[in-house]
Amino acid sequence: MGMGVDPAAFRAAMARFPGAVTIVTTLTPQGRRGITATAVCSVTADPPSLLVCVNRATGTCQGILETGRFAVNLLRDPSGDLAMRFAGAGGTTGDDKFAAGDWGADAAGLPVLADARVAFSCAVAETLTAGTHQVFIGQITAIAQGEGAALIYEQSRFHRLDPI
Ligand SMILES: Cc1cc2nc3c(=O)[nH]c(=O)nc-3n(C[C@H](O)[C@H](O)[C@H](O)COP(=O)(O)O)c2cc1C
Repeated sequence: MGMGVDPAAFRAAMARFPGAVTIVTTLTPQGRRGITATAVCSVTADPPSLLVCVNRATGTCQGILETGRFAVNLLRDPSGDLAMRFAGAGGTTGDDKFAAGDWGADAAGLPVLADARVAFSCAVAETLTAGTHQVFIGQITAIAQGEGAALIYEQSRFHRLDPI
């Protein structure tokens, strides 16, 4: 702590870091939960696994802690409105968020987008508390691949991929 970089400087710096936009979902006894998340990263191919960082204040985090399962849906361009909805824009919360988007379910009942660029179904292998967030390493149990191009977020705006 107190090492010289304040949270605002950190946020401004990380805003320059382009992120692929996902919706991380889970299924709880109280219904579906999901948030928009860019803090998603490949971990290792053996066993196939990825990590997500989820704010502990969200119902999604509590749901994943309780059920040990989550799905990562990589959004397709254009899905900016859906991303903002799942980031809490407009005040929609809980299962009501899923009223928009073509949502289905995987074999475990986890919410997956029919038109996701790719969707990963995961079982929590390890978890770590890091300040305000929970890091979940998920072992991937299923992959569903779709068409289109991934949606990108940088400097508080959505962007589309443009090959060089
Ligand atoms: C582009 C974008 C990326 C985000 N990435 C993350 C993330 O990686 N982890 C996270 O916990 N929250 C992230 N958020 C914030 C959550 O989406 C937001 O806190 C959450 O949806 C609030 O849900 P609630 O209103 O239902 O509590 C991101 C928001 C946006 C707009």
